[in-house]
Amino acid sequence: MTSDLFDDLPITVTRETLAPGAALLRGFAREGDATLLQAIEEVTAQAPFRHLVTPGGYTMSVGMSNCGALGWVSNRSGYRYDPLDPLSGQPWPAMPAPLMVLAERAAAQAGFEGFRPDACLINVYEPGARLSLHQDKDEKDFAAPIVSVSLGLSAVFLFGSASRRDKPQRYRLTHGDVVVWGGPSRLAFHGVAPLADGEHPLLGRRRINLTFRCAGRV
Ligand code: SIN
Ligand code: FE2
Repeated sequence: MTSDLFDDLPITVTRETLAPGAALLRGFAREGDATLLQAIEEVTAQAPFRHLVTPGGYTMSVGMSNCGALGWVSNRSGYRYDPLDPLSGQPWPAMPAPLMVLAERAAAQAGFEGFRPDACLINVYEPGARLSLHQDKDEKDFAAPIVSVSLGLSAVFLFGSASRRDKPQRYRLTHGDVVVWGGPSRLAFHGVAPLADGEHPLLGRRRINLTFRCAGRV
């Protein structure tokens, strides 16, 4: 693993390479966190967090919402991207500019210029919530990376390879950390270990994760 300290960014921002095409930008989203949280609150006032059911009939412990042209949803018949929120029948809230700008900048910092996501999944974790190992592969095009922003309570992020057989590495992600994975790492298995209880000054007993993707273009 390599770690660089940026000269042109606040001293708390560092970049670690997790694997070819995968970078952890520590502290990248910390500046402007209040603006991000405000934007997330506005989105979730329109499209509230909900616990989706998987095709296998299991209710996810992570609460989810979306913003952008497409939203990731799951139900008994499968996973899909949908332009409409199934709860309201309305389009998902537009992606707020501060979220879009953050995603573009983080992708560029990790070597993926020109990232323009059309989907942002918003995950909320309460103590005990977890996300089992999976690949993000419901998108039409794997050329674009995934940009994942962590806010609130710390979590243990599991990040492996494109093979489920490889044991994932574990990384503690704290408020403001951003992980970007694309290119040779685009289909890496990843997940989140059960969230430990705690109290975060801005988010209380919660962790929020934003996952930006190019879901619809080919
Ligand atoms: C995800 O894979 O959708 C979310 C990952 C995370 O919460 O860090
Ligand atoms: Fe994922």
